[in-house]
Amino acid sequence: MLDTPTRMTTEAPPLSDEKLAVRPRLLSVADAKAMSLAEMTELFKDHINPGQLHFMKLLGFHKVKIERAEGMYYTDQNGRKILDFFGGFGSLAFGHNHPRIIAARQQFQDEDRHEIAIAFMSQYASALARNLAAISPGDLDMVFLGSSGSEAMEAAIKVAERAAGPARPKIVYAENSFHGKTKGVLSLTDSPLYRGEFRLVDNTVKVPFGDIDAIRNAFEADPAIGVIVLETIQGGGGIVQAPVAFWQQLRALCDKHGVLWIADEVQCGMGRSGRFYAFEHAGVVPDVTALAKSLGGGKCAMAAMVASRKVYMKAYGTPKTAMIHAQATFGGIGEACITAIEGLNVLYDEDLIGNAERTGGYLLEQLEGLKAKYPQIIKEVRGQGFMVGLEFQDFSQTLPALLRPMVGMLDEKLKGSLSGFVGAELLRDHDVLVAFTEYNRNVIRLEPPLICGREHVDRFIAALDAVLGRGIARIVRDFIGSQVASKA
Ligand SMILES: Cc1ncc(COP(=O)(O)O)c(C=O)c1O
Repeated sequence: MLDTPTRMTTEAPPLSDEKLAVRPRLLSVADAKAMSLAEMTELFKDHINPGQLHFMKLLGFHKVKIERAEGMYYTDQNGRKILDFFGGFGSLAFGHNHPRIIAARQQFQDEDRHEIAIAFMSQYASALARNLAAISPGDLDMVFLGSSGSEAMEAAIKVAERAAGPARPKIVYAENSFHGKTKGVLSLTDSPLYRGEFRLVDNTVKVPFGDIDAIRNAFEADPAIGVIVLETIQGGGGIVQAPVAFWQQLRALCDKHGVLWIADEVQCGMGRSGRFYAFEHAGVVPDVTALAKSLGGGKCAMAAMVASRKVYMKAYGTPKTAMIHAQATFGGIGEACITAIEGLNVLYDEDLIGNAERTGGYLLEQLEGLKAKYPQIIKEVRGQGFMVGLEFQDFSQTLPALLRPMVGMLDEKLKGSLSGFVGAELLRDHDVLVAFTEYNRNVIRLEPPLICGREHVDRFIAALDAVLGRGIARIVRDFIGSQVASKA
Protein backbone atom coordinates (compact mmCIF):
# COMPACT_ATOMS: atom_id res chain seq x y z
CA MET A 1 0.00 0.00 0.00
CA LEU A 2 1.03 3.57 -0.55
CA ASP A 3 1.79 5.59 2.51
CA THR A 4 -1.31 7.76 2.13
CA PRO A 5 -1.72 10.84 4.32
CA THR A 6 -3.42 9.91 7.58
CA ARG A 7 -6.88 11.22 8.36
CA MET A 8 -7.68 13.86 10.95
CA THR A 9 -10.00 12.52 13.63
CA THR A 10 -11.91 14.40 16.30
CA GLU A 11 -9.96 12.48 18.96
CA ALA A 12 -6.59 13.68 17.67
CA PRO A 13 -4.62 15.72 20.19
CA PRO A 14 -4.00 19.35 19.27
CA LEU A 15 -0.99 19.71 17.00
CA SER A 16 2.12 21.36 18.38
CA ASP A 17 3.64 24.32 16.55
CA GLU A 18 6.42 22.04 15.49
CA LYS A 19 3.98 19.55 13.94
CA LEU A 20 2.02 22.29 12.23
CA ALA A 21 5.18 23.38 10.50
CA VAL A 22 5.71 19.87 9.12
CA ARG A 23 4.97 19.46 5.47
CA PRO A 24 1.83 17.33 4.93
CA ARG A 25 2.62 13.90 3.57
CA LEU A 26 1.65 14.29 -0.06
CA LEU A 27 1.56 11.79 -2.86
CA SER A 28 3.84 12.61 -5.78
CA VAL A 29 3.10 12.33 -9.49
CA ALA A 30 5.20 9.14 -9.48
CA ASP A 31 3.04 7.79 -6.61
CA ALA A 32 -0.10 8.52 -8.62
CA LYS A 33 1.33 6.76 -11.66
CA ALA A 34 2.28 3.69 -9.64
CA MET A 35 -1.02 3.47 -7.75
CA SER A 36 -2.78 0.10 -7.94
CA LEU A 37 -6.43 -0.31 -8.85
CA ALA A 38 -7.26 -1.16 -5.23
CA GLU A 39 -5.49 1.95 -3.90
CA MET A 40 -7.10 4.17 -6.49
CA THR A 41 -10.52 2.78 -5.56
CA GLU A 42 -9.94 3.38 -1.84
CA LEU A 43 -8.98 7.00 -2.46
CA PHE A 44 -11.94 7.52 -4.81
CA LYS A 45 -14.20 6.16 -2.08
CA ASP A 46 -12.55 8.21 0.69
CA HIS A 47 -12.18 11.52 -1.12
CA ILE A 48 -14.21 11.74 -4.32
CA ASN A 49 -17.59 10.02 -4.39
CA PRO A 50 -18.28 6.82 -2.44
CA GLY A 51 -21.83 6.49 -3.77
CA GLN A 52 -20.71 6.64 -7.38
CA LEU A 53 -18.64 3.52 -6.89
CA HIS A 54 -21.89 1.58 -6.54
CA PHE A 55 -22.80 2.38 -10.16
CA MET A 56 -19.30 1.64 -11.43
CA LYS A 57 -19.56 -1.78 -9.79
CA LEU A 58 -22.94 -2.44 -11.42
CA LEU A 59 -21.38 -1.93 -14.83
CA GLY A 60 -17.96 -3.48 -14.18
CA PHE A 61 -16.16 -0.15 -14.68
CA HIS A 62 -14.48 -0.48 -11.27
CA LYS A 63 -12.20 -3.23 -12.61
CA VAL A 64 -10.51 -0.97 -15.12
CA LYS A 65 -7.45 1.20 -14.61
CA ILE A 66 -6.46 3.05 -17.75
CA GLU A 67 -2.75 3.15 -18.52
CA ARG A 68 -2.77 4.60 -22.04
CA ALA A 69 -5.13 6.15 -24.55
CA GLU A 70 -4.54 6.56 -28.24
CA GLY A 71 -6.90 7.27 -31.13
CA MET A 72 -10.04 5.13 -30.78
CA TYR A 73 -8.70 3.05 -27.88
CA TYR A 74 -8.02 3.00 -24.16
CA THR A 75 -5.48 0.46 -22.88
CA ASP A 76 -6.05 -0.91 -19.37
CA GLN A 77 -3.70 -2.26 -16.69
CA ASN A 78 -3.69 -5.69 -18.35
CA GLY A 79 -2.86 -4.42 -21.82
CA ARG A 80 -6.47 -4.88 -22.96
CA LYS A 81 -7.48 -2.39 -25.67
CA ILE A 82 -10.96 -0.94 -25.19
CA LEU A 83 -12.74 0.51 -28.23
CA ASP A 84 -14.18 3.90 -27.28
CA PHE A 85 -17.75 4.38 -28.56
CA PHE A 86 -18.51 6.55 -25.53
CA GLY A 87 -16.12 9.35 -26.46
CA GLY A 88 -16.48 11.20 -23.15
CA PHE A 89 -20.07 12.23 -24.02
CA GLY A 90 -18.77 14.05 -27.09
CA SER A 91 -15.48 15.35 -25.67
CA LEU A 92 -13.19 13.29 -27.88
CA ALA A 93 -13.84 14.39 -31.46
CA PHE A 94 -10.12 13.93 -32.24
CA GLY A 95 -9.78 10.64 -30.39
CA HIS A 96 -7.27 10.25 -27.59
CA ASN A 97 -3.97 12.13 -27.82
CA HIS A 98 -4.21 13.31 -31.41
CA PRO A 99 -0.55 13.77 -32.54
CA ARG A 100 -1.06 17.26 -34.01
CA ILE A 101 -2.75 18.48 -30.84
CA ILE A 102 -0.01 16.99 -28.67
CA ALA A 103 2.69 18.59 -30.85
CA ALA A 104 1.05 22.04 -30.65
CA ARG A 105 0.82 21.78 -26.86
CA GLN A 106 4.42 20.57 -26.60
CA GLN A 107 5.67 23.47 -28.70
CA PHE A 108 3.71 25.95 -26.60
CA GLN A 109 5.37 24.59 -23.45
CA ASP A 110 8.82 24.59 -25.02
CA GLU A 111 8.42 28.29 -25.84
CA ASP A 112 7.67 29.21 -22.19
CA ARG A 113 4.46 31.00 -23.15
CA HIS A 114 2.29 32.76 -20.58
CA GLU A 115 -0.99 31.08 -19.64
CA ILE A 116 -3.20 33.46 -17.67
CA ALA A 117 -4.72 36.07 -19.95
CA ILE A 118 -6.14 38.56 -17.46
CA ALA A 119 -3.64 41.42 -17.30
CA PHE A 120 -2.54 41.43 -20.92
CA MET A 121 -4.48 40.37 -23.97
CA SER A 122 -3.54 37.00 -25.45
CA GLN A 123 -2.77 36.52 -29.14
CA TYR A 124 -4.03 32.94 -28.71
CA ALA A 125 -7.38 33.91 -27.20
CA SER A 126 -7.80 36.50 -29.97
CA ALA A 127 -6.98 33.95 -32.68
CA LEU A 128 -9.35 31.37 -31.23
CA ALA A 129 -12.19 33.90 -31.00
CA ARG A 130 -11.54 34.94 -34.59
CA ASN A 131 -11.60 31.30 -35.76
CA LEU A 132 -14.89 30.63 -33.99
CA ALA A 133 -16.38 33.77 -35.54
CA ALA A 134 -15.16 32.63 -38.98
CA ILE A 135 -16.78 29.19 -38.54
CA SER A 136 -20.05 30.49 -37.07
CA PRO A 137 -22.73 31.59 -39.55
CA GLY A 138 -24.54 34.93 -39.64
CA ASP A 139 -23.34 37.57 -37.21
CA LEU A 140 -22.36 35.07 -34.49
CA ASP A 141 -19.13 36.98 -34.03
CA MET A 142 -18.60 37.71 -30.34
CA VAL A 143 -16.90 35.07 -28.21
CA PHE A 144 -16.67 34.51 -24.46
CA LEU A 145 -14.10 31.85 -23.51
CA GLY A 146 -14.61 29.67 -20.45
CA SER A 147 -13.74 26.25 -19.09
CA SER A 148 -16.91 24.14 -19.10
CA GLY A 149 -20.17 23.69 -20.94
CA SER A 150 -22.02 24.92 -17.88
CA GLU A 151 -19.92 28.10 -17.80
CA ALA A 152 -20.49 28.75 -21.52
CA MET A 153 -24.24 28.20 -21.08
CA GLU A 154 -24.32 30.50 -18.04
CA ALA A 155 -22.66 33.15 -20.21
CA ALA A 156 -25.27 32.47 -22.91
CA ILE A 157 -28.29 32.97 -20.67
CA LYS A 158 -26.77 36.07 -19.09
CA VAL A 159 -25.94 37.79 -22.38
CA ALA A 160 -29.41 36.97 -23.69
CA GLU A 161 -31.17 38.12 -20.53
CA ARG A 162 -29.41 41.47 -20.63
CA ALA A 163 -30.09 41.90 -24.34
CA ALA A 164 -33.76 40.98 -23.90
CA GLY A 165 -34.02 43.71 -21.25
CA PRO A 166 -35.50 43.89 -17.74
CA ALA A 167 -39.11 43.82 -18.93
CA ARG A 168 -38.63 40.35 -20.50
CA PRO A 169 -36.78 38.22 -17.93
CA LYS A 170 -38.53 34.88 -18.55
CA ILE A 171 -36.71 31.97 -20.15
CA VAL A 172 -38.37 29.06 -21.99
CA TYR A 173 -36.68 25.65 -21.82
CA ALA A 174 -37.59 22.13 -22.88
CA GLU A 175 -38.74 18.94 -21.22
CA ASN A 176 -35.94 16.37 -21.12
CA SER A 177 -33.27 19.09 -21.38
CA PHE A 178 -29.74 19.10 -19.99
CA HIS A 179 -27.74 22.33 -19.92
CA GLY A 180 -25.37 21.79 -16.99
CA LYS A 181 -25.25 21.65 -13.21
CA THR A 182 -24.35 25.19 -12.10
CA LYS A 183 -27.39 26.83 -10.53
CA GLY A 184 -28.43 29.11 -13.39
CA VAL A 185 -28.45 26.46 -16.10
CA LEU A 186 -29.63 23.80 -13.66
CA SER A 187 -32.82 25.86 -13.53
CA LEU A 188 -33.22 25.08 -17.24
CA THR A 189 -32.32 21.39 -16.85
CA ASP A 190 -35.32 19.07 -16.68
CA SER A 191 -33.99 16.42 -14.33
CA PRO A 192 -35.49 15.88 -10.88
CA LEU A 193 -32.29 14.03 -9.91
CA TYR A 194 -29.90 16.87 -10.81
CA ARG A 195 -32.27 19.61 -9.62
CA GLY A 196 -32.10 17.94 -6.21
CA GLU A 197 -33.97 20.16 -3.84
CA PHE A 198 -31.99 23.26 -4.71
CA ARG A 199 -33.64 26.61 -4.77
CA LEU A 200 -33.40 27.50 -8.45
CA VAL A 201 -34.25 30.59 -10.46
CA ASP A 202 -37.97 30.76 -11.06
CA ASN A 203 -38.28 32.98 -14.13
CA THR A 204 -38.65 29.89 -16.34
CA VAL A 205 -41.34 28.27 -18.50
CA LYS A 206 -41.11 24.60 -19.56
CA VAL A 207 -42.43 23.33 -22.92
CA PRO A 208 -42.28 19.91 -24.62
CA PHE A 209 -39.16 19.60 -26.84
CA GLY A 210 -39.84 20.15 -30.55
CA ASP A 211 -43.43 21.33 -30.03
CA ILE A 212 -43.83 24.55 -31.99
CA ASP A 213 -47.47 25.02 -30.98
CA ALA A 214 -46.57 24.90 -27.29
CA ILE A 215 -43.85 27.50 -27.86
CA ARG A 216 -46.21 29.73 -29.85
CA ASN A 217 -48.81 29.51 -27.08
CA ALA A 218 -46.20 30.35 -24.45
CA PHE A 219 -44.90 33.36 -26.41
CA GLU A 220 -48.45 34.63 -27.05
CA ALA A 221 -49.56 34.13 -23.45
CA ASP A 222 -46.60 35.79 -21.76
CA PRO A 223 -44.97 38.93 -23.16
CA ALA A 224 -42.36 38.73 -20.36
CA ILE A 225 -40.69 35.81 -22.19
CA GLY A 226 -37.44 37.14 -23.68
CA VAL A 227 -35.32 34.02 -24.23
CA ILE A 228 -35.68 30.37 -25.32
CA VAL A 229 -32.94 27.81 -24.67
CA LEU A 230 -32.80 24.46 -26.49
CA GLU A 231 -30.20 21.78 -27.19
CA THR A 232 -30.24 21.31 -30.96
CA ILE A 233 -30.04 17.56 -30.38
CA GLN A 234 -30.92 16.50 -26.84
CA GLY A 235 -28.02 14.43 -25.52
CA GLY A 236 -28.72 13.74 -21.85
CA GLY A 237 -32.35 13.08 -22.79
CA GLY A 238 -31.25 10.07 -24.87
CA ILE A 239 -30.49 11.55 -28.34
CA VAL A 240 -33.75 13.26 -29.24
CA GLN A 241 -34.16 15.37 -32.37
CA ALA A 242 -36.77 17.79 -33.67
CA PRO A 243 -37.53 17.94 -37.41
CA VAL A 244 -35.76 20.53 -39.60
CA ALA A 245 -39.07 22.40 -40.07
CA PHE A 246 -39.31 22.92 -36.30
CA TRP A 247 -36.11 24.99 -36.26
CA GLN A 248 -37.23 27.09 -39.20
CA GLN A 249 -40.59 27.76 -37.54
CA LEU A 250 -38.81 28.52 -34.27
CA ARG A 251 -36.57 31.11 -35.94
CA ALA A 252 -39.62 32.80 -37.52
CA LEU A 253 -41.55 32.72 -34.24
CA CYS A 254 -38.63 34.21 -32.29
CA ASP A 255 -38.28 36.99 -34.86
CA LYS A 256 -42.01 37.71 -34.71
CA HIS A 257 -42.07 37.96 -30.90
CA GLY A 258 -38.60 39.45 -30.42
CA VAL A 259 -37.47 36.42 -28.37
CA LEU A 260 -33.76 35.48 -28.39
CA TRP A 261 -32.93 31.86 -29.25
CA ILE A 262 -29.97 30.17 -27.54
CA ALA A 263 -28.82 26.92 -29.23
CA ASP A 264 -26.92 24.69 -26.80
CA GLU A 265 -24.35 22.90 -29.00
CA VAL A 266 -22.13 21.75 -26.13
CA GLN A 267 -22.68 18.07 -26.97
CA CYS A 268 -23.92 18.06 -30.57
CA GLY A 269 -21.59 20.81 -31.90
CA MET A 270 -17.99 20.66 -33.19
CA GLY A 271 -19.00 18.58 -36.21
CA ARG A 272 -20.56 15.63 -34.39
CA SER A 273 -23.86 15.79 -36.30
CA GLY A 274 -22.17 16.08 -39.72
CA ARG A 275 -22.23 19.93 -39.71
CA PHE A 276 -20.09 22.10 -37.44
CA TYR A 277 -23.25 23.20 -35.64
CA ALA A 278 -26.26 20.87 -35.68
CA PHE A 279 -28.58 23.86 -36.31
CA GLU A 280 -26.90 24.28 -39.72
CA HIS A 281 -28.90 21.25 -40.95
CA ALA A 282 -31.96 23.52 -40.81
CA GLY A 283 -30.26 26.50 -42.50
CA VAL A 284 -31.12 28.85 -39.62
CA VAL A 285 -28.98 30.83 -37.19
CA PRO A 286 -29.65 31.30 -33.46
CA ASP A 287 -28.88 34.52 -31.57
CA VAL A 288 -26.47 32.83 -29.17
CA THR A 289 -24.79 29.43 -29.07
CA ALA A 290 -22.34 27.52 -26.86
CA LEU A 291 -19.57 24.95 -27.42
CA ALA A 292 -17.40 22.97 -24.99
CA LYS A 293 -16.34 19.31 -24.72
CA SER A 294 -14.33 18.60 -27.92
CA LEU A 295 -13.29 22.26 -28.19
CA GLY A 296 -10.64 21.23 -25.63
CA GLY A 297 -9.18 18.73 -28.12
CA GLY A 298 -9.69 15.89 -25.63
CA LYS A 299 -6.76 17.36 -23.66
CA CYS A 300 -8.07 20.29 -21.64
CA ALA A 301 -11.04 22.30 -20.42
CA MET A 302 -12.19 24.82 -23.01
CA ALA A 303 -15.61 26.27 -23.73
CA ALA A 304 -17.03 29.17 -25.71
CA MET A 305 -20.21 31.18 -25.83
CA VAL A 306 -20.71 32.75 -29.24
CA ALA A 307 -23.24 35.58 -29.49
CA SER A 308 -24.46 37.70 -32.34
CA ARG A 309 -22.72 41.05 -32.39
CA LYS A 310 -26.09 42.80 -31.96
CA VAL A 311 -26.98 40.80 -28.84
CA TYR A 312 -23.50 41.11 -27.34
CA MET A 313 -23.24 44.87 -27.89
CA LYS A 314 -26.65 45.42 -26.35
CA ALA A 315 -25.64 43.44 -23.26
CA TYR A 316 -22.03 44.49 -22.71
CA GLY A 317 -21.07 46.90 -25.49
CA THR A 318 -20.07 50.00 -23.48
CA PRO A 319 -17.23 50.64 -21.02
CA LYS A 320 -19.89 50.84 -18.31
CA THR A 321 -21.27 47.36 -19.10
CA ALA A 322 -18.13 45.68 -20.49
CA MET A 323 -16.99 44.15 -17.20
CA ILE A 324 -20.35 42.75 -16.09
CA HIS A 325 -19.50 39.34 -17.52
CA ALA A 326 -15.91 39.61 -18.74
CA GLN A 327 -13.66 36.53 -18.90
CA ALA A 328 -13.12 34.64 -15.61
CA THR A 329 -9.68 33.67 -14.26
CA PHE A 330 -9.13 30.77 -16.64
CA GLY A 331 -10.99 32.21 -19.64
CA GLY A 332 -8.67 32.24 -22.65
CA ILE A 333 -5.87 30.41 -20.85
CA GLY A 334 -2.95 29.95 -23.26
CA GLU A 335 -2.46 26.20 -23.69
CA ALA A 336 -6.21 25.59 -23.84
CA CYS A 337 -6.51 28.23 -26.60
CA ILE A 338 -3.76 26.74 -28.75
CA THR A 339 -5.26 23.29 -28.21
CA ALA A 340 -8.61 24.55 -29.49
CA ILE A 341 -7.01 26.44 -32.41
CA GLU A 342 -5.13 23.32 -33.51
CA GLY A 343 -8.21 21.15 -32.96
CA LEU A 344 -10.37 23.35 -35.18
CA ASN A 345 -7.73 23.19 -37.92
CA VAL A 346 -7.50 19.38 -37.59
CA LEU A 347 -11.29 19.16 -37.83
CA TYR A 348 -11.20 20.71 -41.31
CA ASP A 349 -7.81 19.38 -42.51
CA GLU A 350 -8.85 15.79 -41.79
CA ASP A 351 -12.46 16.28 -42.94
CA LEU A 352 -13.72 14.95 -39.63
CA ILE A 353 -17.10 16.64 -40.07
CA GLY A 354 -17.54 14.87 -43.43
CA ASN A 355 -16.45 11.62 -41.79
CA ALA A 356 -19.05 12.10 -39.05
CA GLU A 357 -21.72 12.42 -41.71
CA ARG A 358 -20.55 9.48 -43.86
CA THR A 359 -19.34 6.98 -41.27
CA GLY A 360 -22.03 8.05 -38.80
CA GLY A 361 -24.56 7.34 -41.57
CA TYR A 362 -22.98 3.90 -42.03
CA LEU A 363 -23.25 3.27 -38.26
CA LEU A 364 -26.95 4.20 -38.32
CA GLU A 365 -27.55 1.88 -41.29
CA GLN A 366 -25.83 -1.03 -39.54
CA LEU A 367 -27.83 -0.40 -36.37
CA GLU A 368 -31.06 -0.38 -38.40
CA GLY A 369 -29.96 -3.80 -39.67
CA LEU A 370 -29.63 -5.03 -36.08
CA LYS A 371 -33.01 -3.55 -35.23
CA ALA A 372 -34.57 -5.54 -38.08
CA LYS A 373 -32.78 -8.68 -36.79
CA TYR A 374 -33.77 -8.16 -33.13
CA PRO A 375 -37.12 -6.31 -33.13
CA GLN A 376 -37.99 -7.77 -29.72
CA ILE A 377 -34.85 -6.19 -28.24
CA ILE A 378 -34.19 -2.92 -30.13
CA LYS A 379 -37.06 -0.44 -30.07
CA GLU A 380 -35.54 2.50 -31.92
CA VAL A 381 -32.35 3.75 -33.54
CA ARG A 382 -32.03 7.53 -33.78
CA GLY A 383 -29.59 10.36 -34.25
CA GLN A 384 -27.38 11.98 -36.83
CA GLY A 385 -23.69 11.64 -37.66
CA PHE A 386 -21.84 10.37 -34.62
CA MET A 387 -24.55 11.32 -32.15
CA VAL A 388 -26.55 8.13 -32.00
CA GLY A 389 -29.06 6.67 -29.56
CA LEU A 390 -30.13 3.04 -29.36
CA GLU A 391 -33.32 2.50 -27.39
CA PHE A 392 -34.18 -0.97 -26.11
CA GLN A 393 -37.59 -2.47 -25.47
CA ASP A 394 -38.66 -2.56 -21.83
CA PHE A 395 -37.67 -6.15 -21.07
CA SER A 396 -39.75 -6.40 -17.90
CA GLN A 397 -42.69 -6.92 -20.31
CA THR A 398 -40.99 -9.42 -22.60
CA LEU A 399 -38.91 -11.52 -20.23
CA PRO A 400 -40.10 -15.16 -19.97
CA ALA A 401 -42.48 -15.53 -16.98
CA LEU A 402 -40.05 -17.87 -15.24
CA LEU A 403 -37.38 -15.17 -15.11
CA ARG A 404 -39.58 -12.26 -14.03
CA PRO A 405 -39.00 -12.76 -10.29
CA MET A 406 -35.30 -12.09 -10.95
CA VAL A 407 -36.11 -8.52 -11.94
CA GLY A 408 -37.01 -7.86 -8.31
CA MET A 409 -33.39 -8.60 -7.38
CA LEU A 410 -32.08 -5.81 -9.56
CA ASP A 411 -30.86 -2.40 -8.52
CA GLU A 412 -33.64 0.21 -8.99
CA LYS A 413 -31.66 1.87 -11.78
CA LEU A 414 -31.60 -1.29 -13.85
CA LYS A 415 -35.21 -2.43 -13.66
CA GLY A 416 -36.75 -2.69 -17.11
CA SER A 417 -33.54 -1.39 -18.66
CA LEU A 418 -31.37 -3.45 -20.96
CA SER A 419 -28.77 -0.80 -21.65
CA GLY A 420 -26.86 -1.47 -18.42
CA PHE A 421 -26.64 -5.21 -19.12
CA VAL A 422 -25.72 -4.79 -22.76
CA GLY A 423 -23.13 -2.11 -21.95
CA ALA A 424 -21.63 -4.23 -19.18
CA GLU A 425 -21.34 -7.26 -21.51
CA LEU A 426 -19.88 -5.17 -24.32
CA LEU A 427 -17.13 -4.06 -21.96
CA ARG A 428 -16.56 -7.39 -20.23
CA ASP A 429 -16.64 -9.73 -23.23
CA HIS A 430 -15.94 -7.52 -26.23
CA ASP A 431 -13.73 -4.67 -24.94
CA VAL A 432 -16.14 -2.00 -26.16
CA LEU A 433 -17.18 1.07 -24.16
CA VAL A 434 -20.57 2.75 -24.67
CA ALA A 435 -22.42 5.49 -22.76
CA PHE A 436 -25.64 5.49 -20.80
CA THR A 437 -28.16 8.18 -20.12
CA GLU A 438 -29.63 9.12 -16.78
CA TYR A 439 -32.99 10.33 -18.14
CA ASN A 440 -33.85 7.24 -20.17
CA ARG A 441 -32.13 4.14 -18.86
CA ASN A 442 -33.21 2.13 -21.86
CA VAL A 443 -30.95 4.13 -24.17
CA ILE A 444 -27.32 3.54 -25.06
CA ARG A 445 -25.55 6.62 -26.36
CA LEU A 446 -22.93 6.19 -29.07
CA GLU A 447 -20.64 9.18 -29.47
CA PRO A 448 -17.36 7.79 -30.85
CA PRO A 449 -14.50 10.13 -31.80
CA LEU A 450 -15.01 11.68 -35.24
CA ILE A 451 -11.88 9.83 -36.44
CA CYS A 452 -13.93 6.59 -36.22
CA GLY A 453 -13.59 4.49 -39.39
CA ARG A 454 -15.82 1.83 -40.94
CA GLU A 455 -13.56 -0.86 -39.48
CA HIS A 456 -14.36 0.41 -35.96
CA VAL A 457 -18.07 0.50 -36.76
CA ASP A 458 -17.87 -3.08 -38.09
CA ARG A 459 -16.12 -4.21 -34.90
CA PHE A 460 -18.69 -2.48 -32.73
CA ILE A 461 -21.63 -3.92 -34.70
CA ALA A 462 -20.16 -7.46 -34.54
CA ALA A 463 -19.79 -7.10 -30.75
CA LEU A 464 -23.34 -5.80 -30.31
CA ASP A 465 -24.69 -8.54 -32.58
CA ALA A 466 -22.90 -11.18 -30.48
CA VAL A 467 -24.36 -9.77 -27.24
CA LEU A 468 -27.93 -9.38 -28.57
CA GLY A 469 -27.77 -12.80 -30.31
CA ARG A 470 -27.67 -14.45 -26.89
CA GLY A 471 -31.23 -13.29 -26.23
CA ILE A 472 -32.71 -11.19 -23.43
CA ALA A 473 -33.11 -14.03 -20.94
CA ARG A 474 -29.44 -15.05 -21.09
CA ILE A 475 -28.21 -11.46 -20.99
CA VAL A 476 -30.29 -10.74 -17.87
CA ARG A 477 -29.47 -14.07 -16.18
CA ASP A 478 -25.76 -13.63 -16.80
CA PHE A 479 -25.77 -10.11 -15.51
CA ILE A 480 -27.57 -11.04 -12.30
CA GLY A 481 -25.16 -13.98 -11.89
CA SER A 482 -22.15 -11.67 -12.18
CA GLN A 483 -23.67 -9.24 -9.64
CA VAL A 484 -24.28 -12.05 -7.16
CA ALA A 485 -20.72 -13.39 -7.71
CA SER A 486 -19.15 -9.98 -7.19
CA LYS A 487 -21.09 -9.51 -3.92
CA ALA A 488 -20.06 -12.95 -2.62
C1 LIG B 1 -26.00 19.95 -23.99
C2 LIG B 1 -25.12 20.20 -22.82
N1 LIG B 1 -25.04 21.43 -22.29
C3 LIG B 1 -24.24 21.70 -21.24
C4 LIG B 1 -23.48 20.71 -20.67
C5 LIG B 1 -22.60 21.02 -19.48
O1 LIG B 1 -21.27 20.88 -19.82
P1 LIG B 1 -20.16 20.65 -18.66
O2 LIG B 1 -20.33 19.27 -18.12
O3 LIG B 1 -18.85 20.83 -19.39
O4 LIG B 1 -20.38 21.70 -17.64
C6 LIG B 1 -23.52 19.41 -21.18
C7 LIG B 1 -22.73 18.32 -20.57
O5 LIG B 1 -22.90 17.17 -20.80
C8 LIG B 1 -24.37 19.14 -22.28
O6 LIG B 1 -24.47 17.91 -22.80
